[in-house]
Amino acid sequence: MAHKSAGTIRQSEPTSLSSWYFPGMPPGLDELHLTSLRLVPEVSLHLAQDAIIFWARLEAEAKTGTPPPFWATAWAGGQALARHLLDNPSITEGKRVLDIGSGSGLVAIAAAKAGAAKVVANDIDPGAIAAISVNAEANEVEVQPWFGDILRGDITDFDVVIIGDVLYEPGIAEDMLRILRAQAATGAVVLVGDPGRGHLPSFELRLLATYPMVDAAFTDAELKNASVYQLIPN
Ligand SMILES: C[S@@+](CC[C@H](N)C(=O)[O-])C[C@H]1O[C@@H](n2cnc3c(N)ncnc32)[C@H](O)[C@@H]1O
Repeated sequence: MAHKSAGTIRQSEPTSLSSWYFPGMPPGLDELHLTSLRLVPEVSLHLAQDAIIFWARLEAEAKTGTPPPFWATAWAGGQALARHLLDNPSITEGKRVLDIGSGSGLVAIAAAKAGAAKVVANDIDPGAIAAISVNAEANEVEVQPWFGDILRGDITDFDVVIIGDVLYEPGIAEDMLRILRAQAATGAVVLVGDPGRGHLPSFELRLLATYPMVDAAFTDAELKNASVYQLIPN
């Protein structure tokens, strides 16, 4: 697909994902663009130019409230984690990888590009599941979408568990950390991407890397960087 320059971010012409999200939506109205992030130029994603306006359009189309389309944004913690995986392919090369709260599929796609043998991308939002498929195809990698609440899921047979920017509220962080600790205890490598949202138990984490945040979502405009941590098993 041809790209035009928008600042230093590469974006395509608007893409209509209406056929898989809201069949009735007129083409082009959803204003999603195949976008390449400056921190992770290897991955292209269908992202909203303005996620809040995009959300309002989805709700208007659905004529009801809908969950926020987190999958239409590349979150800071996910960008950092994706960069780290691409720069350190030995983490995922030949491994079975689970990406929790995958959203757009950014981190899962990075793991696949870094040579993972199998990548499963989980999310509780059906919109994310559709976005993961479309974005994996756009990047010519294989990612298996897994729809459902991971807190009720049966997580078995993964060597590496990755989670980008999902610990954004105290309750969610507590629940996710419970399953992450269980995975680390079974011997899985557990990596967390987080921009300092304040819900990480620092005593359990080893800082691996910090990256500057140049394309943070505008709701995160104050964020200067995001880090990648490894959860240390007890
Ligand atoms: C802030 S977004 C991060 C998306 C992506 N990892 C990134 O960094 O761009 C958080 C994601 O976690 C998902 N999520 C929240 N709770 C979840 C749960 N219990 N099970 C699965 N996914 C969940 C949301 O639907 C959302 O897509």
